[in-house]
Amino acid sequence: MKEITIVRTSNPKKKPDYSNLGFGKYYTDHMFLMDYSPDLGWHDPRIVPYGPISLDPAAMVLHYAQTTFEGMKAYRTGDGRTLLFRPWDNFRRLNSSDNRLCIPQIDVDFAVEAVKTLLRVDMDWMPTEVGTSMYIRPFVIATEPHLGVRASNSYLFAIILSPVAAYYPEGMAPVRIYVEDEDVRAVRGGTGEVKAGGNYAATIRAQNKAAEKGYTQVLWLDGVHRKYIEEVGTMNVFFLIDDTVVTPALTGSILPGITRMSCLEMLRSWSIPCEERLISVDEVKTALRNGRIREAFGTGTAAVISPIGHLAFGEETYEINNGSIGPVSQRLYDELTGIQWGRLPDKYGWTTEV
Ligand code: COI
Repeated sequence: MKEITIVRTSNPKKKPDYSNLGFGKYYTDHMFLMDYSPDLGWHDPRIVPYGPISLDPAAMVLHYAQTTFEGMKAYRTGDGRTLLFRPWDNFRRLNSSDNRLCIPQIDVDFAVEAVKTLLRVDMDWMPTEVGTSMYIRPFVIATEPHLGVRASNSYLFAIILSPVAAYYPEGMAPVRIYVEDEDVRAVRGGTGEVKAGGNYAATIRAQNKAAEKGYTQVLWLDGVHRKYIEEVGTMNVFFLIDDTVVTPALTGSILPGITRMSCLEMLRSWSIPCEERLISVDEVKTALRNGRIREAFGTGTAAVISPIGHLAFGEETYEINNGSIGPVSQRLYDELTGIQWGRLPDKYGWTTEV
């Protein structure tokens, strides 16, 4: 494995108020960087003081959004260990995103080692308050100055760390979701099933519209028929319909979430029936009217398990489970976070110690 050089900051920053972290507002003292060039491949892995990155104004990422990212978390356990949750899966997904955007592949084991080394350097930033964790944001950007549309020849792979609390200001309180019927997020064959930066830029307008109406996030419909449920804002979505948990199948425009996959594994291990399939808006509306949707929730690294208390289709709004968290969502949350924070045995082998 390549050796990671470490240059420590001579000017450590003041730590934030750990009881009021919010999400993605603070960054630690160091960052990991590694360059790519066609002759050297990925080279010069290094940990350096956190700070601005210098880019040529013609760098291709700035014009054509050739960039991918990941989101994962490290957790401090009660007995003082630091655990990462399924980091290999995140870097495998980064490689799948990079493949879609013609960015060179990264060695998954090396990337996990880079995260662990960076966490060790910034261990004094690790939050310990209940419900907090270290959010890890690896990303790749195209750095070559060039205005023709083609793949860049040079890239930067970076990892930054941000101590965080809950993603939504609501915390574990159920969120209000607006079903978006104008903008679409993705179509099959596009980039919806990978973590490309541009995917998220295209969602902001609908998110603003939902926020103006008093909703936390939007629920996206498929881009072709505008009929099937895809995902919610930054999360995958699940419904408990009667006794079966249903989530949209990965049809090519939905992000294959690591938390989504973990929830399905937990549900199956509890013998709760689960279906990955197409779910139409009409099916959801009818089931809501008939009182058959007992719970709905979103899943994601940042959002964890986020119960959905209200769903709005234009002026038509529905309350789910009296606007409160239901037993299946709660059980998933307890088991998942129990494993992540080391309170429960990791019978699935999902965590790795830093
Ligand atoms: C994550 O859950 O880690 C994500 O990548 C969502 C992010 C856009 C906040």
